[in-house]
Amino acid sequence: MRDNITDRSDGSTTRRDVLKAIGATAAAAGVSQTASAEVGHHTLAAEDERLGPVTPRDTVYQILTDRFSDGDPDNNDFSDFDSSLYDGSGSDLKLYQGGDWQGIVDRIPYLKDMGVTAVWLSAPYDNRESKIVDYQDDGTVDVWTSYHGYHARNYFRTHRFFGGMQDFYAMRDALHDNGIKLVIDFVSNHTSRWKNPTKNNEPEEGQLYEPDTDSDGNYVFDENGDAVGENLLADPHNDVDGWFHGIGDRGGDTSKFGYRHKDLGWLADFSHENGAVVDHLERATKFWKSKGIDGIRHDATLHLNPAFAKNLKTAIDSAQGGPITHFGEFFISRPDPKYEEYRTFPDRTGINNLDFEFNRAATNVFGHFSETMTAFGEMLLKTHGDYTHEHQTITAVDNHDMTRFRYIQPDDKPYHAAIAALMTCRGTPKIYYGTEQYMNPGSSGPNAGRLFMQTDAAFDTSTTAYQLISDLAQLRDDNLALAYGLTNILHSTDDVIVYERQFYDHVVVTAIHRQPDQSESVPSVGTNLPDGTYDDYLSGDLYGQGISVDGGALDSFTLGGGEVSVWESRPDLGSAPKVGTIVSTMGQPGDTVYIYGAGLDGDVSVTFDGTPANVVSNSTTRVTATVPDGPTGLVDVAVEKNGQTSNATTYDVLSDEPVQVIFHVEAETVPGETIHVVGDLPELGNWDPLAGSESFMNPDYPEWFLPVSVPKNTSFEFKFVKIDEDDNVTWESGSNRSYTSPTDSTETDDTPLYYWQS
Ligand code: NOJ
Ligand code: NOJ
Ligand code: CA
Repeated sequence: MRDNITDRSDGSTTRRDVLKAIGATAAAAGVSQTASAEVGHHTLAAEDERLGPVTPRDTVYQILTDRFSDGDPDNNDFSDFDSSLYDGSGSDLKLYQGGDWQGIVDRIPYLKDMGVTAVWLSAPYDNRESKIVDYQDDGTVDVWTSYHGYHARNYFRTHRFFGGMQDFYAMRDALHDNGIKLVIDFVSNHTSRWKNPTKNNEPEEGQLYEPDTDSDGNYVFDENGDAVGENLLADPHNDVDGWFHGIGDRGGDTSKFGYRHKDLGWLADFSHENGAVVDHLERATKFWKSKGIDGIRHDATLHLNPAFAKNLKTAIDSAQGGPITHFGEFFISRPDPKYEEYRTFPDRTGINNLDFEFNRAATNVFGHFSETMTAFGEMLLKTHGDYTHEHQTITAVDNHDMTRFRYIQPDDKPYHAAIAALMTCRGTPKIYYGTEQYMNPGSSGPNAGRLFMQTDAAFDTSTTAYQLISDLAQLRDDNLALAYGLTNILHSTDDVIVYERQFYDHVVVTAIHRQPDQSESVPSVGTNLPDGTYDDYLSGDLYGQGISVDGGALDSFTLGGGEVSVWESRPDLGSAPKVGTIVSTMGQPGDTVYIYGAGLDGDVSVTFDGTPANVVSNSTTRVTATVPDGPTGLVDVAVEKNGQTSNATTYDVLSDEPVQVIFHVEAETVPGETIHVVGDLPELGNWDPLAGSESFMNPDYPEWFLPVSVPKNTSFEFKFVKIDEDDNVTWESGSNRSYTSPTDSTETDDTPLYYWQS
């Protein structure tokens, strides 16, 4: 097995370059320092606690903390807790099972030997504890708990079933010491359910709490880092300060206003247009960043105000410690009218997507056999064109919100083929806990799949799936074609696909037959593998074979039932600089960026559209640089060394720290027309109406509104435009309008109601 610590040449674990004062980290997060970082065994994180963002060389493993491993029975029950809500046997999956942070520490050898280099864990903070009662039509009741972490109650207190802050620190340190990055789930869309739809919308919970504050307004923590006190901050049942949208469940409302402003299953929906809410959520996410996490999985991004999401992401990454990983759940399934919104969400917010397109295709192709292998290849090519940073999309065959893939596909051969495809396709692969143990609930639906691994599986390190993930995680780390390469479909039919990934001279070819009991011949096809002979990288574990390449073409061969063959070439890439990807993909002058690739050591310089950036440090596989003052909007970032210039990648330079302005206009439209704002800032499309804002919402037609992210404290000119379905643009007449944005980035500002100038 590889040694992650010394071998991860993306520079993320070996380079602990900037040691920052712990106090600065705490201050940046707005936390009280009355509890000194000196006290206790584990402390607040300094910059060097972080391993750095997840990269496409990583293999991510998703854990529902309650459902993995119980390392500490003391946190399964509390004197003030209704113990009927704890199960622990794995039989009632609506209740707590007892998994916790110590349990994750206990299983680190298991994770590490599987090749896992990042974990995505349940949200770590305090959740609703009162039982959730669903009244059924037949008179029975279902009792649920918030074991999953999606019912926020107090962002500054730990989820006590997972552990206290010392347990969190201990887990963080143990993961990091083993080269495993830590990504936490984070819900900024809502608190908990505030009305019970199964009982005539009877009021239930939804309240948000905060710790005590000291005389400077900072939260107070004890010597272990745990929150002191608890105070009601906002209540959807008495929402005096407008923290919640409070307009009820979205039901069948499929409008943008419906899925952004109404409740998701009556979960109390935050009003992200309220500056106090923005401030609290920025403070909460920065608090967890200050604990040394490497990334955030943002819940329910489809339901967020994107201007809020973009500003939140920017605030987190500009805070002490540099950019962390951001990926979010914009849950769609094509055909879906929101595809375009999904596709552009990362470009508009800097938050990557969980790749639901990959997921749909993989499920249908390898699970249901309802789409062909050719369609799978077409999905890869289409999304290459559609996604700006395709390597950063997080790919998976299943997750906690869908039927377990093993239930859909109980046959080992296509099941393994799906895992092999996941590990060798573009994107950053994510394994849902238990996939490697063939965990199968025996029924469909998401909750059924949230099995308690401790009671359901043996953590067996000898399964074929476990070994397959381990082998291909190693290859993903070693052969940069898997991390950064383009995809070329060499051959495909209904059941067979042969695809090539290539990053300069690193090449990987994968050949897959999904049918368990059929074989099919593959003609000789051109490849970028150099002439020669190649062994199957998987050593025949999935019935694979060696192959010869002659005259630039693979020899014809026959793919057996369920066969997966992987052939690779990995010569030294030479010293010329080559760029694989950049993290983050959006920010402001002064922000840190990490540029990943090869040949990045030595005397390098970095340019943003030709403007030199300050290089902070560099290794063969990573340059740390600072976004320069100068070009704004989408720029090309390249690395130069010894007169050689690398390929470029794209970065979106914001004009300044962003702030939210909510535009309002009254305008009459004909069906098919939408309203947009366009203006003289890159954030407003630089007067290109098709590059201006997204479409406005109109719950009160003919009034329209849209929250827009613009640079703070900036005067700008703008106009409203109408755009029809064929992209025909109608401009307002008259002179340009002007506006000045607020000075404080967490302020929000409503414009007056403007009237369309005809
Ligand atoms: C999506 C999460 O993944 C899901 O499990 C959760 O219930 C909802 N968001 C609400 O937070
Ligand atoms: C076209 C608009 O009609 C006008 O008002 C605006 O000043 C220019 N675009 C800016 O180039
Ligand atoms: Ca426990």
